[in-house]
Parts: sequence; structure tokens; C-alpha cells
Amino acid sequence: SQTVVRNAEGALEVGGLDVREIVERVDTPAYVMDEVDFRARARAFRDAFSGWDVYYAAKSFLCTISARWIAEEGLCMDVCSGNELTVALAGGMPAARIGFHGNNKTVAELTQAVEAGVGRIIIDSMTEIERLQAICAEREVTARVMVRVTAGVEAHTHEYIATAHEDQKFGLSITGGQALEGLLACHAAPNIELRGVHSHIGSQIFETAGFEVAIRRTLELHRAFLDATGEHLPELDLGGGFGIAYIAADQPRSAEHLAGAMQALVHRECRGLELDQVPHLSIEPGRAISGTPGMALYRVGTVKMVTLAEGVQRCYVSVDGGMSDNIRPALYGAEYSATLASRASDAGPLLCRVVGKHCESGDILVRDEFLPADIAPGDLIAVPAAGAYSRSMASNYNHALKPPVVGVRDGELRTLIRRETMQDLLALDAGWTPDA
Ligand code: LLP
Repeated sequence: SQTVVRNAEGALEVGGLDVREIVERVDTPAYVMDEVDFRARARAFRDAFSGWDVYYAAKSFLCTISARWIAEEGLCMDVCSGNELTVALAGGMPAARIGFHGNNKTVAELTQAVEAGVGRIIIDSMTEIERLQAICAEREVTARVMVRVTAGVEAHTHEYIATAHEDQKFGLSITGGQALEGLLACHAAPNIELRGVHSHIGSQIFETAGFEVAIRRTLELHRAFLDATGEHLPELDLGGGFGIAYIAADQPRSAEHLAGAMQALVHRECRGLELDQVPHLSIEPGRAISGTPGMALYRVGTVKMVTLAEGVQRCYVSVDGGMSDNIRPALYGAEYSATLASRASDAGPLLCRVVGKHCESGDILVRDEFLPADIAPGDLIAVPAAGAYSRSMASNYNHALKPPVVGVRDGELRTLIRRETMQDLLALDAGWTPDA
């Protein structure tokens, strides 16, 4: 997990900066992204999976500058909206290294992707095949595609972030036959170049067992395609979902371990194939790159004791952010840790619940955490490993202003995304008059 360093004064340091100094400059709540760590994790995947293509899942955290980091580290990028595509391109991602996802891409988005010349489009429905064929035919171009399939795997994760079981909106079913049908329709479409099969089994996965099943089933599908057409599919994408350490109990695998295990599984399933018939592989890690390098910083506003039972108390520590900047605990029951960031303390441990400032009792950031018993208003709280799916899923609930994300490196700080202002929000409110 992220190395949390305390300096001589007992305050946390990130990227060579004291968090108190960061807060002095950008206020709270704020997200701090350690550029060196982000890049190192991107590189670790690229190096461990050498010979594969590694697509960074931009939905986990995207801005122009982080897109540039990914481009510079030599990775590819997965985007899943036309707007993500715009940012990726603005950050310098070459279109050829971008994959475009989505279960309901609009005609405008597909057109944008085709005109930008993205490296591949991941087909998610039969409707989309016709749509894409028409767009490409009109422009006399060919689009490279992968077909997203559901491999029928039960990933052991929260229902809303598991994606390869049958009864959900993504992909075409292998067992139901739609996957092969989709492959054959792509094969028959004159302006579509079919590259292979795509499978993403879910998120925050620690075991390789799910990938094993997915590899077996997707390669069976490749064989079924070969039987039907006499042609080998040249590529296979195994998606993302590699788990990270949000709390001490989480035991993530290193990129090397994952690469070794997945390579071995593919080789086992490809026994008997000529080397040039083994598909070229790719993966799509998101949080495994962006999660751990990001830290949320909040200021404690109020502290309140609640009696749970005779002699048992819980302290509610309210901070100045919450579900509007990190909805993961409220949405998935996701667990994080919290730590007193602005000072050291010798006080004993106190059972705390770190909550936000929103009008919902479910607005909890960290359900159970021991913080020093002298925790008090004005203290800074850090929530480590919060870089993925936090700012990118932020909302304006209660007219909260989305927090900034600052990058830190070698003691230098720079704004990646500035804090939203009330003017930004009011600009959307058609009834608001500036002089009112
Ligand atoms: N590839 C595809 C096709 C995906 O749909 C996703 C995530 C990824 C790759 C990257 O997954 P990762 O490596 O980051 O786990 N918002 C939820 C997760 C939803 C992810 C959606 N797709 C969360 O906060 O846990």
C-alpha cells in the first residue's frame, strides 16, 4: 500500500510535502496524487506484462495531465465516453493507443471515435455493430473492434462491480450464443475488422481463479469462431479489476505475480496452438494504477460521542467532505482507513466513525477506525488509497463543490484539477441572477 511517511513534527508527508502545507495552499477537502507512485505503478504493469498491451482504465481517474503521464509511460488507455476520449486526446494519448468502451455509445460518440482513429472499439451489442458499420461505410474507413463477452464468472466482489455473470447489462453471452453471433456479424461487416474477444470479470479481485475461467471460456469462443470461419482471432483482452489494499487486511498481488499467473494460464489453454496462433493479449487495470497513489485530505469539523451500549461508545468524527467526493463506501460498502494527518498524538485509541457533512446517515467514509482519543475539530484526516473512482464519481449533492486534485512530486505541488467554485455551479442554474 501507499507508504505513509510522518516527518519529525508528526505530520504526514506525500511527495516530499507536509500535508499541512498542501492544505494551506489548496484547502480541504482535497485529493493529492503522488505522481511518482502513479507513474511507477503504470510502469510496473507495462514492464511485468511485457509483450501485452496495458490499457489504463481512465474512468478510475482522468484529467489531461494524468493522461499525459500514461502516454509518457507507454501504456494504452481505455475510455468509455466521448468526453473521456476528448480528455485523453488532449492529454496527448495517441488515438491508436486508445480503446473505446461502453454499452450504449451514441452515434455521435462512435462517430467521434471513428474520426479520431481510435485503435479499437469494444462492441457491446448487436445494435452497435450495425451502427458502427454504417458510420464506417459512409466514411469509407475500417474500424478495428473487440467483442465484449460475459464469461459467466461469479467474481467475488460487490454485485454492482461484478460484470461477467450473465444477468447484467454488459457484453454478449458466451453460453447464450450471442457472443459467437456477435463475432460472426462483425466478421461479415465489410467496414469492421474483428480483432478478438474482450472479457472484464469485475473489480477489486484478488484471486486469479476468476481469470482462469474467463481465459478458458474466451479461448473456447476463439475456437468456436475458428471452426465457423477457418480464421484465428488475433487478440484477447482480459479486462481489469486487480485489487488494491484499501485496508490492512487486503492482500494485493504484484503486477509481476499477476503477469506470471495469467501468462501461465493462457499458455496452458493454448497448448497445441502454433505460436503465431496464440492471441496477442491485453489487460485494463484502473485502480491498481490510480488508487494507491491518491490520498484524500479532510478537516475535522465536529466530534460527537454516541453511546452504543453500557460503557461502549463510538465517536463520530465529521469531516468537510463525504459521499459527494467519495461515494464508494455508501454505494458498495467499500472500506477505507483513516489517519490523523496533521500531528502526532500519544493519546490512546478511540473507536471512531469518520463521516461526511451530507444530509444522509449513510454518508460514512470509514465505518470503524481507531483514532487518537484527543481527535478534535481542526485536525486533518487523511484517507489513503483514495485515488480511484472518488473524484471521478464525485457529485454536487447538497451543492457541494467538487474538490481539487493536486499532483505532488519531489516537494513540488501542481493543480491537476482545480476546486469547483460556487460560480461554476451557479452558471448552470438558469434562474440565478448574478445581482440577486
Ligand atoms: N475494463 C473495463 C471494461 C471496466 O469496465 C473497468 C471498470 C476496468 C477495466 C477497470 O477496473 P479496475 O481495474 O479499476 O477495477 N466504480 C467502481 C468500479 C466500477 C468499475 C467499472 N469498470 C468502484 O469504485 O469500485
